[in-house]
Amino acid sequence: MNKKVYVGMSADLVHPGHLNIIEQAKKLGDVVVGLLTDEAIASYKRLPHMEYEYRKRVVENIKGVLEVIPQNTLDYRPNLKKIKPDYVVHGDDWKEGIQKETRQQVIDTLKVWGGELVEVPYTNGISSTQLNQALKEIGITPDQRVKRLRRLIAAKKPVRIIEAHSGLTGLIVENLKVEINGESREFDGMWASSLTDSTSKGKPDIEAVDITARTENINDLVEVTTKPIIFDGDTGGKIEHFVFTVRTLERLGVSAIIIEDKVGLKKNSLFGTEVPQQQDSIEGFCEKIKAGKNAQVGQDFMIISRIESLILKQGQEDAIKRAKAYINAGVDAVMIHSKESSPNEILDFCKEYKKFDRKVPLVAVPSSYDSVYEDELAEAGVNVVIYANQLLRSAYPAMVDTAKKILTYKRAYEARENLMSIKDILTLIPGGK
Ligand code: SPV
Ligand code: MG
Repeated sequence: MNKKVYVGMSADLVHPGHLNIIEQAKKLGDVVVGLLTDEAIASYKRLPHMEYEYRKRVVENIKGVLEVIPQNTLDYRPNLKKIKPDYVVHGDDWKEGIQKETRQQVIDTLKVWGGELVEVPYTNGISSTQLNQALKEIGITPDQRVKRLRRLIAAKKPVRIIEAHSGLTGLIVENLKVEINGESREFDGMWASSLTDSTSKGKPDIEAVDITARTENINDLVEVTTKPIIFDGDTGGKIEHFVFTVRTLERLGVSAIIIEDKVGLKKNSLFGTEVPQQQDSIEGFCEKIKAGKNAQVGQDFMIISRIESLILKQGQEDAIKRAKAYINAGVDAVMIHSKESSPNEILDFCKEYKKFDRKVPLVAVPSSYDSVYEDELAEAGVNVVIYANQLLRSAYPAMVDTAKKILTYKRAYEARENLMSIKDILTLIPGGK
């Protein structure tokens, strides 16, 4: 009987490095590829460009591959224990970084039945990182972008979203990465906030900036990014208008709209009961949800209902009742909002939500209760965390400070310490020279 060889890979952007590993593995025996699922990949880096099923079709057709099975975690051990391969073949580029521990686990596990790890020298001159960069330059189609939010929700928890009110902030969300303990961490997508869209136009957050103006920001974002966008749809307006908004956003490649269950002149939720705000009836809001779901063209666009019961002091019971009704009306996710400085009422809601028979993904916006960690929210059952306004809130005081310094000293020299260099701003966006 042939020896069994196990190769774990993501195979998102297949290049000669992958083929080299499979060729080497084939020399040792029958090759089973453990193809990392979207979930396994998203646990330590960005979501792959291609869905699992597409990647599977590609790898199945590579010469020398006998079988492809899912590897559901970065951890190889569950599959290794099942298959008991004689060899595991891997590139030698995992000795450092996040995969170092995984590598040791592989060695220790194989030892139990006398298996062996074979490492193939890393193929120089081509890397997934380079290919990724090239793909970002090509961009993404609206259809692919719309789908990405659902894929992310299925693959990781929580999905991490931050506000982007301009092309420039979109680029921050698109490109910023931090490496923490070998994990590459980045934002998963953008929130087109009514508060920051309005404020950056010098207008109050009362639906005075209309959809046409708001979609200008969306156009700026889609021009320079590939990540998914969630649109803050305020109340959604009149049902007769809402259906057009849904189609406009879907066509642009936006993944989801969140609408709040309020009627009349909308004021920002973080005012709470300081300003008069009226909640919609459950029936009225369910009608809006249904009309929106009927209006969308494809299957992927999401309509998310935002429950304002805690904001308006209507109590936990009302929030729960509404969540159930909105789910029955067909929403794709529920957002629960709070303006308390403690996360307790959100966590209480989550506890009740966990008991629901019929659930959809849950969204939270920790603006006022900002001491809570994303992981605590995820643990409580939250699927999507939105940082709704922090980029604009940090930019404005910085700009005012600079302007004050110039007024005070009648020159810009004293403001220098606040500023990036002229060279840096000139070259921030490639292609200007
Ligand atoms: C927004 O960002 O505009 C929101 C979230 O709707 S909040 O400001 O918290 O209401
Ligand atoms: Mg808003």
